[in-house]
Amino acid sequence: MASIYPIGVMDSGAGGLSVVKAIKRALPYENIHYFADTAHLPYGIKSPEFIKYLALKMARHLVALSSCKMLVVACHTISVWWLREIEQALGIPVIGMVNPSIDGLKDVIAKKPVKSVGILSTKATVNSKVYEKVWPLIDIHSQVARIEHASGPLVSLVEETDLTSSDLKIVLDYFLPQSIKMCDALLIGCTHFSALIPSLSKMLKPSCHIVDAADFVASHVHNTLGNASMLSNSDKPHKLIAYISDNKERFQIIARRFIEDELIVKELRDYARTN
Ligand code: DGL
Repeated sequence: MASIYPIGVMDSGAGGLSVVKAIKRALPYENIHYFADTAHLPYGIKSPEFIKYLALKMARHLVALSSCKMLVVACHTISVWWLREIEQALGIPVIGMVNPSIDGLKDVIAKKPVKSVGILSTKATVNSKVYEKVWPLIDIHSQVARIEHASGPLVSLVEETDLTSSDLKIVLDYFLPQSIKMCDALLIGCTHFSALIPSLSKMLKPSCHIVDAADFVASHVHNTLGNASMLSNSDKPHKLIAYISDNKERFQIIARRFIEDELIVKELRDYARTN
C-alpha cells in the first residue's frame, strides 16, 4: 500500500539538507519533514551521552510532529553513536550515514586506483572509531591507508561564514593537513561539509575522488520504502517543511547554501526550553 506520510530527516543544523537534496532528486513526489536542532548545534563537540539525549528527543519530536513513515538521520555524528537506539525507540525504519558511506567508499575503491582515503568528520565521529571498525568491509585487501581528520571547526565555517569569500580558501588551506590534501579519495564524513565541496576540491589532488554519501542515502531510502510498498503514489511535487529549535532567520539564510527549492520553516520556540 502506498504511503502518503512524509519522510523524516534530521540533523543538528542545515547540513542534512544536502541529504534532503539527494532524496528529492531520487524521489520527487515524497514530502519531506526536516528537523534541525539549531539551538544545540554543534553536536560534534558534545559528549556521546548528551548527543544521545538530544538525538532521541529530536527523533521523537519529529515523528510526533510529522507522522513520518521512516527517518533519515542525516548526521554522521548521531549515526555513528546512536542509530540502533533511535531505531529501537521509534519502531519505524531508520537510515543513517555510515552504511551509505561504506557503499560510497567501496564503489570508488572498486573503480579507481585508491591507496589512501581521507575522512573529514567531527571529533565525536572520529572518537567513535566507527571507520576503524568497518574498514575491513571497505578495504577487503588491506591495501588502503585511512586518514581521519577531526574537522569540527568547518561546521562553524558552513554555518557562519560567507562560503564564497577568499578567506574560506585560506582557512581551509591552513586547516587541512598535507596527508588529506594528497589522498586519492575523500569521504565527506559530516553532512555540513557537502557545502564546502567546491572549495575543498580546489585544495585536493585533481584526481582525488570526493565521496558524498547523500546519493547512496537516497538509494537506501528508495529501497527501504519500495520493499515495504511505502513509496508515495502522489503525482504532485513534494513539500519540504523544516522544524528548527532556534533562530529562523539565520536558518533560512544557511539553508540556501544547500537547497534552492521552496522551504517552509517553522521555529519551535519551546522545544529547547523543555525536556
Ligand atoms: N552535520 C553533522 C554531522 O554530519 C554534525 C555537525 C555538528 O553538529 O557538529 O556530523
